[in-house]
Amino acid sequence: MSVNKLHVYTVSEAEALFQEFYGLAAKASGLPSERDQNFRMDTAKGESCVLKLYAPETDVCWLDAQDQLLIELVNQDAGLPLPRLIENNKKATTYKITDCNGQDRFIRALTWLDGEVWNKAAQKQSLDFKQIGELMGRMDLALKSFMHAGADRTFLWDVAQASAHTAFISLIEDAEIKAIVESILEKFSKETASALSRLPRQVIHNDANDYNILVDKQGKISGLIDFGDFIKSHRVCEVAVACAYAMLAQKDPVGKICDVVSGYHKVNSLCEEELAILYDLIRVRLAESSCMAAQQYAANPENEYLLISQKDIRDLLRKMEQINPQVVHYRLRDVCGYEACAGSRKLEQWLLTNADKIGPICQHDLSPENVLVLDLSPLSVNEEGIPRSAEDATNVIFDLMKDAGAAVGVGSYLEDRDVYKGDFFETVDPDEKRTVHLGIDLFLPAYEPLYAPLDGIVRVHNDNTRDYDYGPVVILEHKTDEGQVFYTKYGHLSRSSLELWEDGKAFKKGEVIGYLGPYPENGNWAPHVHFQLLLDLMGMENDICGVAARSEINVWSSVCPSPNLILGMKTKCQGDVTRSSKSIREERARHLSPNLSLSYSEPLKIVRGEGQYLYTEQGEQYLDMVNNVCHVGHCHPRVVAAATGQMPVLNTNTRYMHDNIVNYARELLATFPDPLEVCFFTNSGSEANDLALRLAQNYTGQKDMLIVDHAYHGNLTSLIDLSPYKFNRKGGKGCPDHVKICPMPDGYRGPVKWDDPDCGDKYAAMAIEQLSALQKQGRKPAAFIAESLLGCGGQIVLPDGYLKRVYEAVRGAGGLCIADEVQVGFGRVGSHMWGFELQNVVPDIVTLGKPIGNGHPMGGVITTRAVADTFFNGMEYFNTFGGNPVSCAIGQEVLQVIRDERLQHNAAQVGQHILGGLTEMMARYPLIGDVRGRGLFIGAELVSDRETLEPATAEANKVVNLMKEKSILLSTDGPLDNVVKIKPPVCFTIENADQFLKEFDVCMALVSQAR
Ligand SMILES: Cc1ncc(COP(=O)(O)O)c(C=O)c1O
Repeated sequence: MSVNKLHVYTVSEAEALFQEFYGLAAKASGLPSERDQNFRMDTAKGESCVLKLYAPETDVCWLDAQDQLLIELVNQDAGLPLPRLIENNKKATTYKITDCNGQDRFIRALTWLDGEVWNKAAQKQSLDFKQIGELMGRMDLALKSFMHAGADRTFLWDVAQASAHTAFISLIEDAEIKAIVESILEKFSKETASALSRLPRQVIHNDANDYNILVDKQGKISGLIDFGDFIKSHRVCEVAVACAYAMLAQKDPVGKICDVVSGYHKVNSLCEEELAILYDLIRVRLAESSCMAAQQYAANPENEYLLISQKDIRDLLRKMEQINPQVVHYRLRDVCGYEACAGSRKLEQWLLTNADKIGPICQHDLSPENVLVLDLSPLSVNEEGIPRSAEDATNVIFDLMKDAGAAVGVGSYLEDRDVYKGDFFETVDPDEKRTVHLGIDLFLPAYEPLYAPLDGIVRVHNDNTRDYDYGPVVILEHKTDEGQVFYTKYGHLSRSSLELWEDGKAFKKGEVIGYLGPYPENGNWAPHVHFQLLLDLMGMENDICGVAARSEINVWSSVCPSPNLILGMKTKCQGDVTRSSKSIREERARHLSPNLSLSYSEPLKIVRGEGQYLYTEQGEQYLDMVNNVCHVGHCHPRVVAAATGQMPVLNTNTRYMHDNIVNYARELLATFPDPLEVCFFTNSGSEANDLALRLAQNYTGQKDMLIVDHAYHGNLTSLIDLSPYKFNRKGGKGCPDHVKICPMPDGYRGPVKWDDPDCGDKYAAMAIEQLSALQKQGRKPAAFIAESLLGCGGQIVLPDGYLKRVYEAVRGAGGLCIADEVQVGFGRVGSHMWGFELQNVVPDIVTLGKPIGNGHPMGGVITTRAVADTFFNGMEYFNTFGGNPVSCAIGQEVLQVIRDERLQHNAAQVGQHILGGLTEMMARYPLIGDVRGRGLFIGAELVSDRETLEPATAEANKVVNLMKEKSILLSTDGPLDNVVKIKPPVCFTIENADQFLKEFDVCMALVSQAR
C-alpha cells in the first residue's frame, strides 16, 4: 500500500483531537484525499461529521475564504445541499494545532452529508444529469457577489490557466493522448483564451466532479462536497468542469453535457459567448487533468488517488476526436433555447421574400402533376427484404415515376430512412445511426444538367469515391443582399461534372453547374441529385452530413433548412421526425407550459389507437380503461370516414345553410325528453358549460350559482369559479362570492350512508340549506349545476331522489337546473342515454362534451325554447367552429354508431360484469372499501381502514402503475385521489372485462401483501 507522507495522524489520534476540540467521543474512519487528511467521525448518538486536518503550510487566507464561502452559500440559498461548518470549543470553525513533527496544521469539522458519490451510485445509468447543472447554477448564483482575497489566486486547476500546463505535456506517456492534449492546449492559447477573457468572472466551486457529488437512494443529489478548489475565475469554467466529469464513461457523452448545461441555464442563464467556447473549455479541463496526473504521478508515484478516473479521461479524449465540436456547440445553444444555428430563421425569411429571384435547379417543371414523392425505405429492399442493387432500385423507382406520369421522383427532407449502408453512417453512440435526410432528392435520368438557382461560387468540390457516398459533389457559396452567407450542395453527380469545378469559380444563376451521375460513379445509387441548403459547413467541407442522427435533428434542421425554400415545390416533401421519449419530454419542457402533466411514473408514448386499445411505437398493446372521449372506440372507422368524407368537400361556419347541422341537431335532440328542443354547438365541454352559465344568468337575471363540492366543470375562468376541484386545491383562489357549495352526496364517505332509506333526501336537504343561505342574503340563484354522476368527486352515483328534490327547490327559488353530461352522457350509464335520466328529472339545460365527437373537439348545449329565446336579445351568438359541417358529420356518425352497434346495451352488460367482479373482490381485499357505478362508469375506492375510511392513496396509485405494467391503463380520482376510476370506450367487451378483473386481482394481492 502506498504511504502518503502528508498523512501523519492515526485514527485514534483523530478521535483524541475530536474529543479535545469538539468535546465528543466519536469513532474515526479515514476518507480518501490527496493532500489533507480527512476522517469520518461517528458519535455514539448516531451523528456524523467530517474532521479535516489540513496539510502543513496550508494558506490561512485560503482557509478563511473557504469558511466565508460556505457561510455565504448558506446565507444566499439555504436549500443548497452543502455541509455546514461546526464551531469548536474555542468558538472557531478553523483552528491551528501543531502536529507530531512540530508543524502547524489547521483542524476543521463539517456536518456529514448522506448519500453515495455520483460515480458509484447504484442507479448511475438512470441519473438525471440536469440536476448537476441546476446545482452548479444555483451555487454560482449564490456566489455571484462573493469576494475574498483567498479566492484570487493562481491555481493550476483553473481552466483559465490552461497555458501553464504546456510545461507538463512531455510527462504524458501515451503518445496519442499527448498529441491530443497538445493540440487542445495550443488551440486554447491561440483562440479560446482571448474569447474567455471577455466572459463574466466570479468565485466558483470549480470541482463538480463525480466524486464530489452525492446522491440519495432515489437518485436525487443530496450533497456537494470538497470546497478546496474554489477560485475566482470565469463562470463558464464551472460549467466546463461539471461537464468534463459528466461525460466520463458515457455512451452518449454529448447528451450528458446537454443535460448539465440545460439544467444550469434553467437557473442561471448562460450567454451565447459562453456557449461558443464551452466545449473547448471542457476539452481543456480534461487536458489539464491529464497533465496534472502525469506531473503529480511523476512526483508522487505511490499516491493512487491521483490516478482516479485517468483511464476514463483518456478514453473520452479519444472519443471526442470523433465528435464535431460545432455540432456540440449548436446542441448546447439549442438546449438553452437559442436558435441552434444563428441566422437560420433569417435566411428562411430572405428566401421566402426573394422567391421570385430564385431559379430552377433542373430542366423539369416541379408542379404536383409532374412529381412523385417516394417513400424510399421500403423501396430500398426487394420483396425478400434483400437490399436492392443500384440497377434494381433504378428500375423500380423510374417505373413508379412512369406509372404516375411524373418526370421527377422526390425523396423528402427530414425523412427518417432505413436505407443507409456503410460505417460512415455510424455515430459515437453504438445504438444510433445517421438516418434522417437533410436534403431533397430529385430522381432524374443520368447526365441531365443541373443549374445554379442563384449566383454563387464553388466553395467545395470533390469526388467522394466511397461506396454509398456522394461520388462527385459540389457546394456553391451564396450571399444574400444583406451579406448573409449560405450554401447549396449537389451530390451524386457525374464524373464529367468534375471538369466544370475549381475553387472559387463563379456561376451565374441559370448556368449549368454539373450533370446527374449514373451508378456506380455517383456513389452507387439510382440516379438522383441530393440537393441540400446549408448555413454552415461545420468544418466538414465535402464530408458535410447529408443525413443526421435523430438525436441531433434540432441542430441539423437549423443548419440545413428545407431545400424546398429554393425548389418551391407545392407537394409535401418533408418527413415527420419521430423522437425518443427523452427528446419528447425535453421538447415539452422547452416549448410547452409545465401546467401540462403526464400520466404514470414512466409516461407512455402512444402512437396508435384502435377500438379499446392503444399502441406504443414498439407496437405494445394497452387496454384503455380511462378514455371516455374516444367513446365508440379509438379511430372508429365510421367516424374517421365521416370526417374524411366531409373535410375535402367543405368546412365553413353556421352562417351558411348546410344539411349537416340541422340533420345532426334533429338526431341529437331526439335522444332528449321534452321540453329540451334547442341546441347550440361548441368546441369543448368547457365552452358548453360557459354558454350554459350565460344562458341561465341571462334567463334569470341572476348571477349566483349553486354547485356540488369537488366538482370540475371546465378550464375557462368562469368555470374555474364553479369548480372546487380547482379553486379549493393547489393554486386555487377559494370559493368566489357568487358561488355556494353543496356537500357532495357521497353515500360512502359523507355523513349519510347509502343504506339510509332517506339518503337522497338528506343530501338534498343539505343542498337546500345552501340555497336558503343564499336567499337569507337577499339573493336568488341563477342555476344549480351538477354532473349526473360525479366524476372528479370520485365516480359517485347520486342517491335516489337527490336531483328531484334539489331541482324542485332551485326552481321554486327562480333558478334553472343544469346537468353536466360531459363525462357521463351518450349511453355510458347503460340503462339510459343520459345520466340525469337515472334520477327521473328533466334539466333546463344539458351540457355535452368529450364523447360527443369521439375525440374530435366538440361540445354542445341542449335547452328549452324558452331559455333559448330569452337569450336572443339582439346579441348574436357566433362560434367560429361550433356546428361546422365536419363536426356535425362526426357528431351524427357517433350517434349512429352508438345505435347501430348497440353500445348503450353493451355498456350496461359489461359494466354489470365488472361491478360484479369488483364487488366479489371487495369481499377478499379489505383495501377495497367501496365499489360503485352505473354502466361503464365505475369507481373502486381504496381505504387502509374500513372503519376510519383512511384513504389508501399511495396504494391506489401503486395499483394503477402495476396495472400499467400489465398493459391496462387506469387512473385515480376523487378528492383524496384514492378512487380507481374505470371509464373505458363503450365498445369494451366481456373478454376485456375478464382480463381486467384477472389482472386487478393480481395487483390487489400484490399491493395488499406489500402493506
Ligand atoms: C364534468 C366535466 N365538465 C366539463 C369538462 C370540460 O370539458 P373540456 O375539457 O372539453 O373543456 C370536463 C373535463 O374534464 C368535465 O369532466
